[in-house]
Parts: sequence; structure tokens; C-alpha cells
Amino acid sequence: MEFKGQNILSTDQFDKESMERLFSRAQEMEKGGSDVMKGKVLATLFFEPSTRTRFSFEAAFLKLGGGVVSGADMMTTSSIKKRETLQDTGATVSRYADLIAMRHPEIGSVKELAEGSRVPVINAGDGANQHPTQALLDVYTMWKEWNGELDGKTVVMVGDLRNGRVPHSQCDLLRHWKVKFVFVSPIALQMPEEISSGLKKAGFSVTETESLEEGLEGADAVCSTRIQAERFSSKEAAAKFEGVYVIDAKVMEGLGENVILMHPLPRVDEIAKEVDDDPRARYFDQVENGLFVRMALMAMVLDL
Ligand code: CP
Repeated sequence: MEFKGQNILSTDQFDKESMERLFSRAQEMEKGGSDVMKGKVLATLFFEPSTRTRFSFEAAFLKLGGGVVSGADMMTTSSIKKRETLQDTGATVSRYADLIAMRHPEIGSVKELAEGSRVPVINAGDGANQHPTQALLDVYTMWKEWNGELDGKTVVMVGDLRNGRVPHSQCDLLRHWKVKFVFVSPIALQMPEEISSGLKKAGFSVTETESLEEGLEGADAVCSTRIQAERFSSKEAAAKFEGVYVIDAKVMEGLGENVILMHPLPRVDEIAKEVDDDPRARYFDQVENGLFVRMALMAMVLDL
């Protein structure tokens, strides 16, 4: 894949070679930034809440010497409220900015804005569909941990696999290595059929279970996710599933010493606070890796 000038809308744009190029650039970014973005402007358009994704896009661009214009609450404070279309919003913002990062609750919305934009647009999460940069930083975390050797590893995804856009994007990226997939979820929140059957048809080992204990056997990485309450019809409907899979010190006792525990954050109750000091916990390292991956991605999209 060529990065230059591309919209980054989906993880299916990436192959192994392009990820490895991105990860190598991210490792360079870890050694120190530069001012390659001097004179450039990033616009962050967030129609849905965010802490990590928006701040890390912005911090990444600032660390590279660029400037940022930011809409953290676009649904209520932008002209979308006056019925402006996403395409017109894209056409307008792209007259001010060199690059756009956008999050929205509706599937396909980022693509819609990108159709009006004359600068590249990066999907920072579109509904239950995709969160490409989160999955890239997750795979970067594994790639660093295992020195690029992901083949043969068992990756266990736990939680709301139906509504969680992160597990969907992780599957898309991890299929470029020979990993074994284990999906732990309540039946009602299973990984979408097209993803799990697509992996099976492609020859991957895929195990689906409701049992956390069973799912964690043989894990190399455990990727926990929260119940995506905002995607349910009511708080009560979501509450039925909260607290079903809690990783606490006792669960950690049953895991091997080299297992890594990951979570895109925010967490609700899926990982007990007592686990934070466990040397196998990687979720705050992921936050930092996100900065480097986004620095690298934006530099490569702008061909800098
Ligand atoms: N991981 C993630 O997307 O976090 P935010 O919702 O805080 O951006």
C-alpha cells in the first residue's frame, strides 16, 4: 500500500509490508520527533467522545511541529447542527487543513466526509465498524513485544465483540500473520459472523467460547474490551453484560508470565485496578504507542 495522499478509512487497506514500514517509522518516532509538519494544519473532527484518540492525534501533530484545529463536540457545535452535510463539512475543512482525523457514531460517515474533502482523511472510529489507528497501535504493541514474530501466537479477544470496532479492525490486521484467534464473549455479543467465518475460510484457527477460563488457556496476548453501552438500545440492555468478564489479580495468577494484557481503554470494570502494576499489563503502554504510530502514519500520508 502507498501511504502518500491516501484516506485511511479501513484496516483492509493494510498489508504486512505496509504495516512493517509504518512500525519501523513509529520506532524512529520513539527516538524523537522532528518538525516535518511545520506550517501544516491537522483538523480533528470528533462527533463522538474521545480522550486518547483525539489527544494523541493532536499531540502527535504538535510534536512534529504542526498546528491543530479541533472540534471535540462536532455534533452540537458545528454547522452539522444546521443540517450541513458531511461532504460539505469535508469540502470546507479541507480548505483550512492539510489532514483531517474524524470520529463519528455512524458507520460509513468518515468515508462520506472524505468524499467531499480534498485532503486525506483518517478514520478515528466510525460507529461499530472500524478504528484503524487503534488496531494499528495494538498490533504495533504486539510487534514490539515479540520482535516482529507474530506467527504462531494466540490472541484472545474478550468482551463485546459484536459492537466493538477495535476487535473487528484487529482481526483485519492480524490476518497478515499466522495467529490463532480465540473469541470470548456472551453469545449475543459474538464476533460478527462474516469476520469469524471469513477467518475460518482463510484457514485460521478460530475458537469461540463464552468461558473466560477456557478462552485464556494458551494465550499469548489477551485483548480485553468494554461492553459498548452506547451501541445498545438502553442502558439496561447493556448492563446485563457488564461485569461478566472481569480480569483481576486472581485471573492473572492463571496466566503465563509472558502473556501480555491489552485493552484499548477506556475500561469500565473489565480490568481491576489491582492489575495495573502487574508487569504483564500493557494498556498504558498502548496509549503511548498510539502517539508514535499516529506520528508515523500522518507523516507517511503527507509524504514527509
Ligand atoms: N481507545 C480509544 O479509542 O479511546 P478514546 O475513545 O478515549 O479515544
